[in-house]
Amino acid sequence: MSDTTERVFTTRMLTDDTWDDFAALVEASNGVWGGCWCIGFHPEPFGETALQNRDAKRRHVRRGTVHQVLVYDGGDCVGWCQFGTPAELPDIKNPAAYASGAGEPPEWRIGCLFTGSRHRGAGVARAAVTAALSAIAQAGGGVVEAYPEQVEDRKPQRGAYFHTGPETLFTELGFVRDRRIAKWRWVMRRVVPDGSAA
Ligand SMILES: CC(C)(COP(=O)(O)OP(=O)(O)OC[C@H]1O[C@@H](n2cnc3c(N)ncnc32)[C@H](O)[C@@H]1OP(=O)(O)O)[C@@H](O)C(=O)NCCC(=O)NCCS
Repeated sequence: MSDTTERVFTTRMLTDDTWDDFAALVEASNGVWGGCWCIGFHPEPFGETALQNRDAKRRHVRRGTVHQVLVYDGGDCVGWCQFGTPAELPDIKNPAAYASGAGEPPEWRIGCLFTGSRHRGAGVARAAVTAALSAIAQAGGGVVEAYPEQVEDRKPQRGAYFHTGPETLFTELGFVRDRRIAKWRWVMRRVVPDGSAA
């Protein structure tokens, strides 16, 4: 997957200050999924238009009800990892299968990942999830859930099918399978230690 050149990325959180960087990436990517604006895991239903989704995301940023790492290549935002508490991100896929096997809810969940199409295979998603886990540690840590797609024993898939991330990436970052919630989708968990005093 990786290209041969080692690239160094920096990360920032999505805030009022970085909104324009995030918006530039979304707009350059046709709104992401034709206008999702990364609203899918948030509590409100999808808007009828891309503009409604954009406005909804903007409101989350203004209210501070979104946690999202942005990855930069120089000054350009090239990807993100959305994460948050279950209250911030209640709308995960396969809700019935998820609920049927659910125990204690996690403190945190990782929602969606996105890397701009020209930057894939260079470690952007890895940088994004790694930074999200650091931010979770600084916020007190806890059980973190992700809902990635199985990669192994399956024919190669385009990145578009991995909006919740490839399982291999989460395995690499210490997550283990908890249970299956769709043919190729798993609940994976890991505990992030409290790093707030560090
Ligand atoms: C899935 C996605 C996030 C991966 O991003 P990326 O920056 O290319 O991933 P990375 O380069 O950090 O890859 C890290 C690891 O993930 C795995 N991986 C990444 N893309 C993969 C793919 N298409 N197939 C299988 N495994 C993949 C590999 O294990 C890889 O490690 P390696 O490079 O050592 O092999 C990207 O393809 C994407 O954005 N797809 C669209 C998702 C989307 O539509 N999101 C919208 C949400 S609203």
